[in-house]
Amino acid sequence: MSDVTDRIAQVGLEASTCTRCDLALTRRTVVFGEGNPETPMVLIGEGPGENEDATGRPFVGRAGALLDKALAENGITRKHVFICNVIKCRAAILEGSRLRNRPPRVEEIEACKPWLVTQLELIKPRVILCLGGPAASVVIHRAFAITRERGQWFESAYAPHAMATLHPAYVLRLQGEAYDSARRLLVEDIAEARRKVIEAKRQAPRTLFDLAEEEPS
Ligand code: URA
Repeated sequence: MSDVTDRIAQVGLEASTCTRCDLALTRRTVVFGEGNPETPMVLIGEGPGENEDATGRPFVGRAGALLDKALAENGITRKHVFICNVIKCRAAILEGSRLRNRPPRVEEIEACKPWLVTQLELIKPRVILCLGGPAASVVIHRAFAITRERGQWFESAYAPHAMATLHPAYVLRLQGEAYDSARRLLVEDIAEARRKVIEAKRQAPRTLFDLAEEEPS
């Protein structure tokens, strides 16, 4: 195992018993994130839902299935990228006898931010793809407007290139032509992120190994 992989695993272990906010009282599992810590591309969603809370894995419900398909259409699997969320525990409210997902509160995002920052400082991605506006508000800039700014490149404190695309759960709420075009945008934005990784690698090889990979033998 590489140093980065080891350290990410160590931080994941520390996060698994986190009590920095009250979500620790209601979560079943801390969903730290998964994938390849050596990746040049990190995808960041908002926070775990019911399925993620139950399994400890990010994006495993219907939104995750759509994300996996959109990645696969670009030749990308979960082994190529690292996927995590802004908050690592499910935010939910009790409605009758059922828990319903709710947006995270500002103080929950702030309490959880050190985990995300540590992940990004260790992985040092060239490209971050935010899934939806809430992740972009944390990673790109606070007043991020997904309808206006989706698909545009920004420099972020955590990566030289950061962009936001539509959240797969949002895409799933649409129907008919609106669904088709939103799904297409999601796939195209992932293609653009992939293209940016290749371009960024050419411009600034991270290691001698990157350089060797790119040079024709
Ligand atoms: N939505 C998110 O933002 N993250 C997940 O892990 C699942 C659904």
